[in-house]
Amino acid sequence: MIGKLGQTSRRYRDDARSATSRRLVIGATGVLTALLTVIQIAAMPAGPTPVRHPLAQGSVWDSVYTAAQAARGEATFRKTCAACHGDSLKGIDDAPPLTGTEFHKSWDGNSLSAIFTKINNDMPSDNPGTLSKPQVAEVVAFILQYNAYPAGKADLAASADSLGGIKFLPKP
Ligand code: HEC
Repeated sequence: MIGKLGQTSRRYRDDARSATSRRLVIGATGVLTALLTVIQIAAMPAGPTPVRHPLAQGSVWDSVYTAAQAARGEATFRKTCAACHGDSLKGIDDAPPLTGTEFHKSWDGNSLSAIFTKINNDMPSDNPGTLSKPQVAEVVAFILQYNAYPAGKADLAASADSLGGIKFLPKP
């Protein structure tokens, strides 16, 4: 009788112990599953939204003009600037290039407000001050497009003050 009772309670204790360890296993599996889910979410690709390069922000790489604006600027450039700066913007005699290594050397690190002001105040050098501010912005947009900076959905602002935060920078 006593022996049987002892066996029963030992079996009961064994059952209880294995239940505890089973619960531990289930608990560990749960934690592991949660961890894997977190890792999976972290590793998921960003989806169809294009990832903006963080260094593009605040620079000419941040799609700061529209193609339509650049097209209007090209018309003005061909009529008003190309005689001195060249059809392919490479510069002629005293008129410096508006594309290529030399152009980037003089403008990288400068803001668009500097080139806007330069064109607005001094160009065309044979007839300065004849372009309206929107026309200056259009010509700047054309110069950006010609130098392969990306177009975007909003026009470049037609005032030097609004362009101080946009810098010429080498490709990020
Ligand atoms: C009659 C010739 C002539 C015409 C037309 C002309 N430019 Fe110029 N441009 C020059 C000369 C010369 C310089 C260099 C002297 C200076 O910086 O003022 C210059 C300088 C510049 C610069 C500064 C370049 C740099 O890297 O320093 C820009 C930008 C520019 N021109 C844009 C234009 C635009 C845009 C037009 C048309 C709206 C235009 N120019 C029309 C002769 C001309």
